[in-house]
Amino acid sequence: MAGHKYSRDIVAEVLAANDIVDIVGAALELKPSGTGRLKALCPFHHEKTPSFMVNRQRQIFHCFGCGKGGDAVGFLMEHEGLSFVEALKKLADRAGIRLPALTERDDKTEYLRTQLLEFNRFAGRHYRELLRHPMRGSAGRQYLKTRQLKDETIQKFNLGYIPEGWSNLLDAAREQGFKDGVLEASGLFKRGDGGRLYDFFRNRLMFPIEDVSGNVVAFGGRDMGDSPAKYINSPETPVYKKGRTLYGLYRARDAMRREKFAILVEGYFDLLRCFDAGIENVVATCGTALTPEQAALIRRYVPEVVIVYDGDAAGIQAAVKATGILSAAGLTVRAMALPDNQDPDDYIKAQSAEAFRDLLAQAQDFVTFYARMSGARTATIEGRSDVARELFEILRGLDDELRIDQYVKRIAQELGLTEWACRSEFNAFRRKSARRPATAEVESIKPRPFSRDDCVFVAVLLTNGPLLSKAREELEDTPFGETPLAQILRALFQSGPETLLQDVEDEAARQLFAAAATMDLESVKDPETLALKQISRIQKDSLRSRAEDLMNKIRDAERAKDQDRMMELVAQKAALDKQSKRWDTVHSRPA
Ligand code: UTP
Ligand code: MN
Repeated sequence: MAGHKYSRDIVAEVLAANDIVDIVGAALELKPSGTGRLKALCPFHHEKTPSFMVNRQRQIFHCFGCGKGGDAVGFLMEHEGLSFVEALKKLADRAGIRLPALTERDDKTEYLRTQLLEFNRFAGRHYRELLRHPMRGSAGRQYLKTRQLKDETIQKFNLGYIPEGWSNLLDAAREQGFKDGVLEASGLFKRGDGGRLYDFFRNRLMFPIEDVSGNVVAFGGRDMGDSPAKYINSPETPVYKKGRTLYGLYRARDAMRREKFAILVEGYFDLLRCFDAGIENVVATCGTALTPEQAALIRRYVPEVVIVYDGDAAGIQAAVKATGILSAAGLTVRAMALPDNQDPDDYIKAQSAEAFRDLLAQAQDFVTFYARMSGARTATIEGRSDVARELFEILRGLDDELRIDQYVKRIAQELGLTEWACRSEFNAFRRKSARRPATAEVESIKPRPFSRDDCVFVAVLLTNGPLLSKAREELEDTPFGETPLAQILRALFQSGPETLLQDVEDEAARQLFAAAATMDLESVKDPETLALKQISRIQKDSLRSRAEDLMNKIRDAERAKDQDRMMELVAQKAALDKQSKRWDTVHSRPA
């Protein structure tokens, strides 16, 4: 949360003007779960039963599986990969609230991000205008004509064009008043030997690349002359992380949710061709190997992916790699290769959208695809064993035993092994690799920084006024350190039962707060008693640690032969001991 300079009041106003249930509900399927709570399958880790909870009253979400939690801003940040300010802005826009503009003094990084997005918007517009320019755009239009896309598709994806020349964009940008610092950070220019900026993209058809919110974060450009690089892309910038971006996702999201699966293709034109033919649940990797982050991004919208990469050797190799990454992210994966080394663009153009849909429907499960595409390797015993083991490694990341069982059977069939041998090999493989985490779990699940008792305690304090008063009375003067629990208690004592998540700063403490606000307190036996016990425990711990602290200081003073200080410390210790004794008698009284 560091950096931004919006006051607590502004943030609270924006949060109050939106309902987290609408925000989360737009992305996930929420179902009621007990009083004031809703649940869903967590979009941030792979699971089969919902542990993702939303508390409508407190406007908080929390996943009891992976520990992610927060308010509506936090949800958008996590789910759409936005910065704090971007998420806040989105919610403000939604509610018709105008946020005061940030200046460079408020937040340097955020300011640069805002400027880069603004500049990218400008550049996209400029490329688009150039494509339509009667004279300067004619080569671009002519090329585009050979690709046979509908006007509608060209417009939807805001395709553009930049003619030959070293400063087409540069001149326009400067005329518009953009500063060199922003231009350089945008990645759309390079510096020559003399230190002067020049256009990075020249004589290319331009594809704006959007993030999940529709901001233009980068560009891809297809050469129209004889450059050795057919396609080039913007370098990474503060607003563009290649491994976390998928071309077309912003446009494909609705269709993906509707169709319940995504088609994964490689190229810009493959994606455009699909949209052109009315198939809109498509995303493209665009020249980079698929990353686990991209797979997780897809997993937020759909449970299944069909990979349709180029039919050539490199395409198949990449598809096989992507299979492992997608499976590990919890996606069901099917894959297919198109005939005659065609890519989806070629195929749909040569055949039809219907023919493509038919192929999609027949796409095989990843085991079959993997085995068949491993081609020559499966000709030898050693090769077959290797392929089987590679598949085992992918299977190990799944957590559906019924499916694993069928996949193992399929591996045996496809590789011509006996089912029995295959199964016992897989079991041995599993035992041997049990200690290595499967790739799916590595990233998302962290140990919780608080105990269940802490969680129940905070949940009680949030819902039980008298107990909160009692805790305040008992603990207000107790110095209880800097644990996540201590930070929440302090916030609660200060702001009362209306405490907001944003009153809690520390990340671990926020997690605890969100967990407490969304937990099911009804399933806890006698939570009040547990809370009272927690109060005593905190007092006792505090007394003990203060006593230890004093003893250490006394020893130091002794060593330093500082009589005066020693006297003072000993007196403090005596007072503390007296307090402890009193406390002991009160609390050891039979109830
Ligand atoms: P392909 O070489 O398969 O090209 O690259 P394509 O998509 O069929 O392109 P057209 O039909 O000839 O125009 C697939 C994708 O890989 C990336 C691009 O995103 C491309 O769409 N790529 C390809 C690069 O980034 N750089 C390259 O030099 C080539
Ligand atoms: Mn192509």
